[in-house]
Amino acid sequence: MINEMKKGDFSAKIVAWYREHHRDLPWRRTLDPYKIWLSEIILQQTRVLQGLPYYRKFIRHYPNIRSLAMAPEQEILRLWQGLGYYSRARNLRKCAQVVLAEHGARFPRTASKLTTLPGIGKYTAAAIASFSFDERIPAVDGNVYRVLARHFGIDERISSAEGKRVFEKLANDLMPPANPGIHNQAMMEFGALHCLPVNPKCDSCIFEKTCYASRRNLQTLLPVKAKPKKATRRYFYYVVISRGKKLLMKERKAGDIWTGLFDFPFHEDRKPVSMKKIPEILFSNCAQQARKKIKAKISSEFKHVLTHQVIRARFIEIQDVEKRNVSQSLLMDSRYYSIPEIARLPKPVLISRYFQEKGIL
Ligand code: ADE
Repeated sequence: MINEMKKGDFSAKIVAWYREHHRDLPWRRTLDPYKIWLSEIILQQTRVLQGLPYYRKFIRHYPNIRSLAMAPEQEILRLWQGLGYYSRARNLRKCAQVVLAEHGARFPRTASKLTTLPGIGKYTAAAIASFSFDERIPAVDGNVYRVLARHFGIDERISSAEGKRVFEKLANDLMPPANPGIHNQAMMEFGALHCLPVNPKCDSCIFEKTCYASRRNLQTLLPVKAKPKKATRRYFYYVVISRGKKLLMKERKAGDIWTGLFDFPFHEDRKPVSMKKIPEILFSNCAQQARKKIKAKISSEFKHVLTHQVIRARFIEIQDVEKRNVSQSLLMDSRYYSIPEIARLPKPVLISRYFQEKGIL
């Protein structure tokens, strides 16, 4: 290792910093593995500030593992709405059910047993086990990778097998014999508040003298990340079909984004479709003459950015059109929902944005 700072000194220093500077967060005031687990799953999706209201909302609705296990999936998805990656929300419920049914409503107390639960990976298991049960195991998230890579000058790619091995060994070696939970919190918090991805606060850093990256001005090059995946472009053409005050909607099936959420029947394309072509696709069942009579209002484009996808959507509003005129493949499994029903359905943020813009919800 290039950096010769004593391992024990590193932990003592970062823990001392943590005691003075950490944020007072509700999941840090408890040892309850249920609350810690919930916070970790939410924080995988968003930052602390954005995650706090979700955490509070979930604890209010489901104060314990039993109440979460018994909750309907749709209700959980509705509360999760806006955090994205909805399989995490479905796994939340599955995990609660397994803990209830197979572990007597108590979380297993070791990281290795915790990883057998749905939605709990290595990092989350280590976080719960160290915070709640004092297991001496490092919880290495993005913040910790950054702190380690910079301070100890590790230029292995985080995503490579070799990189993982090197980081893990180092993180392990740094663990103090006592209070592993505080050490792990300190590593994360230092990355989150001080050793920032952009503009790290090197001028006022407790590791100014020992940080490999800071002494060589390599902060922007470390950690070495995988090349970002190119985002897929997707074009959605939603048909908004109304009957009286009801709208035709459908639940999204497994195998794509937003499983279990509700949107409208739609046509998807890999390229933008011209305004002229849209009715041909949506109303393929309709004779050309009749098609011309359908009054369709095409919305402006809604851009929606996900981690590896950029979706551009248009909403084609049609009234009093007979369902049989609309291409049948688009309508599968759809049904009419009243506005109060729609308000309660779990929906992708893109669909909520559309409703908001229309002043409907
Ligand atoms: N990010 C992930 N886990 C965290 C935690 N326990 N506290 C603050 N930020 C976090």
